[in-house]
Amino acid sequence: MSETKPLRIALAGLGTVGGGVIRLIDANGDLIARRAGRRIEIVAVSARDRAKDRGGDIARFGWVDDTTKLAEADADVIVELIGGSDGPALALARATLASGKGFVTANKAMIAHHGLELATAAEASRAPLKFEAAVAGGIPVIKGLREGAAANDIARVYGILNGTCNFILSKMEAEGRDFAEVLAEAQALGFAESDPSFDIDGIDAGHKLSILASVAFGTRPAFGAVAASGIRHILAADIAEAAALGYRVRLIGLAEAGPQGLFQRVHAHLVPVDHPLAHVTGATNAVVAEGNFVGRLLFQGAGAGDGPTASAVVADLIDIARGEYGAPYAMPAAELADTLPADSGDRIGRAYVRFTVADKVGVLAEIAAAMRDAGVSIESLIQRGRVGDGSVLVAIVTHEGPERAVAQALERLRGSASLTDTPLWMHILG
Ligand code: NDP
Ligand code: HSE
Repeated sequence: MSETKPLRIALAGLGTVGGGVIRLIDANGDLIARRAGRRIEIVAVSARDRAKDRGGDIARFGWVDDTTKLAEADADVIVELIGGSDGPALALARATLASGKGFVTANKAMIAHHGLELATAAEASRAPLKFEAAVAGGIPVIKGLREGAAANDIARVYGILNGTCNFILSKMEAEGRDFAEVLAEAQALGFAESDPSFDIDGIDAGHKLSILASVAFGTRPAFGAVAASGIRHILAADIAEAAALGYRVRLIGLAEAGPQGLFQRVHAHLVPVDHPLAHVTGATNAVVAEGNFVGRLLFQGAGAGDGPTASAVVADLIDIARGEYGAPYAMPAAELADTLPADSGDRIGRAYVRFTVADKVGVLAEIAAAMRDAGVSIESLIQRGRVGDGSVLVAIVTHEGPERAVAQALERLRGSASLTDTPLWMHILG
């Protein structure tokens, strides 16, 4: 290897991922230097608390108190591992790219909200901007789409994009327990955050989906157009019902580009047991992309954690060290199409709808009438067991039809005295 100047990096954030990056570079530095043709060297770091025990020697790096000032460090690339869509992470990104230095981040919230602005700034200053770790942690899915699948027209990209939700759903499935109980366990294990709402309400998966969609379809990032909902209202009984019907429940982020516009949704789905995503369990992530020449691609692996996420961050640094980087979204920002959001009502599919109802005469007839009046064809209907307050659960699977009709049926039933809780609607992955 002919030794050239090292790639000097400055690291903002020394938590789970930042610590992982330091350990990875320490452990694999020689191998990385052979692969990249030069060493990757950390020259400066910054975090909130200088005195915090980091479990390793960080005194060997320069310390910068004001994280935004890290952009002025004598470094080629600034690596942002703080988090948050705005605040110090965004200030650092703007300052870094304005100065012409490279910027690498794992921050999906910031890229989902400000990715286009940052990509435009990066192009203006000819600086590399990379965010592989922002989507599905250690899985090289951005690289897979930007490079490996770059020759394809991609019709659809979808997958399991949140490890916390998949962990909770798989545990509910394996142990027959309800959501709240499993969430508490995930938090006690330090797995889910103390405020887990971004994870369990689908926001985190929505951030990742909007980034994936841009890279896959060449459309302008549109996080605001992602319809996101989560897994809070799923009962152990729904998972058992789905299993009896031949499905597993997964939180799926799905984006499709078509003549009707760009469709982006994060929603709990029933996934047929013979689909690969039905077999993704625990905190694992998986992404499927369908290209017109390559066919169906499946990317699977660890979506979080210090090691896998650091692996993705350092892969971006290796690309920069090699001089192999291009437009962050696989094409210049000005080429990204401004696509209108597609209306979910036009989508054709099958649905699982679970009602919690009072156990009294006429309730089933009322539900069936609402479905009939909205033009929804029922494939199967199961009424099962009492829940705590004497209500019963009625689960309906519909035949294929427009989502608009199911929405209309639910609208007709809104406020009905027969319903003791809000109905749960899950789509069936087709
Ligand atoms: P942590 O909370 O573990 O670490 C955050 C780090 O940022 C800490 O070192 C903290 O400093 C520092 N920090 C926080 N606020 C400030 C501030 N105002 N000014 C300066 N430094 C600050 O986060 P993670 O490592 O888990 O996540 C980092 C990024 O990576 C996030 O964007 C996250 O979404 C993303 N990510 C994380 C994954 C994971 O598995 N954890 C997976 C994929 C992406 P101090 O230590 O002094 O408190
Ligand atoms: N909170 C995220 C998850 C971590 O559970 O998948 C990685 O993005």
